[in-house]
Amino acid sequence: MQIIRQESHQSDVIDSASQGSPHLELKDISVTFRDRGKPEPVLANISLRVEQGEFVSLVGPSGGGKSTLFHVIGGLVAPSSGSVWLEGGEVTGQKGLISYMPQNHALLPWRTIEDNSILAMEIAGASKQSARQTAREWLARVGLEGYEKAYPHMLSGGMKQRASFLRALLSPRSFMCLDEPFGALDELTRLDMQRWLLRIWEANKRSVLFITHSIEEAVLLSDRIYVLTGRPAGVTKEVTVPFPRPRGDEVVADPAFVALRQEIYEWMRRG
Ligand SMILES: Nc1ncnc2c1ncn2[C@@H]1O[C@H](COP(=O)(O)OP(=O)(O)OP(=O)(O)O)[C@@H](O)[C@H]1O
Ligand SMILES: [Mg+2]
Repeated sequence: MQIIRQESHQSDVIDSASQGSPHLELKDISVTFRDRGKPEPVLANISLRVEQGEFVSLVGPSGGGKSTLFHVIGGLVAPSSGSVWLEGGEVTGQKGLISYMPQNHALLPWRTIEDNSILAMEIAGASKQSARQTAREWLARVGLEGYEKAYPHMLSGGMKQRASFLRALLSPRSFMCLDEPFGALDELTRLDMQRWLLRIWEANKRSVLFITHSIEEAVLLSDRIYVLTGRPAGVTKEVTVPFPRPRGDEVVADPAFVALRQEIYEWMRRG
């Protein structure tokens, strides 16, 4: 299944610098907010990497700082120290270089679902007509057929999340940050969407950094998982997920899968 036009950014930097570089690398990122003058450390010396075409998840306790880390990667929050690297070039503080699905769907209320989903393509210079054509094919695949001309307030929470997910998927930026994309879905839809994402990703191998609360979801989808501590968040474990791809439904019942899930749970509990 061919879907997404892969487009590199910073092409001038990439040619010499990106050879052998990870797609994304975070070096020693710390963030301290100030709360009524008092310093509140949220991220503490986070270093991690995502190789080209790799699917990497972050799991960690709520309020730990995971979304803040995505804001740093997207250039929306300046780190107190540390740096962000994409394909061998430093991009700390730069916006617009990654495809990003925020934790709240952030759909624009005045645009239809179709026009919301083409936003990133439009910003990247695609014609509205061809972008809409692509979007229409994809809306059906995420279960939003018939809602092309609807506005966000007419959709359920889960539908809005799917539309937001589609917008990130259709972005021409090759690196995707997905912040709990399936958080608001019921269990069955969530399972469907996980399988669907797995199939798409296995056919296209985009580089993905994925935040989830579900350890099972992380193990099912990922090549590697970083387990984060509570606030201030730091990396406590890095896990390589050994199961071969393509991964079918049977993998979740594999005793090795169950054992790994339990092990990660224990690491998270110990923080
Ligand atoms: N701009 C900001 N200014 C001050 N504090 C902030 C800001 N953004 C986030 N925080 C605080 O940083 C902490 C981490 O928030 P963040 O949203 O990154 O956590 P999270 O790990 O994504 O949580 P969840 O799993 O519930 O989504 C919270 O205590 C939050 O209140
Ligand atoms: Mg969050």
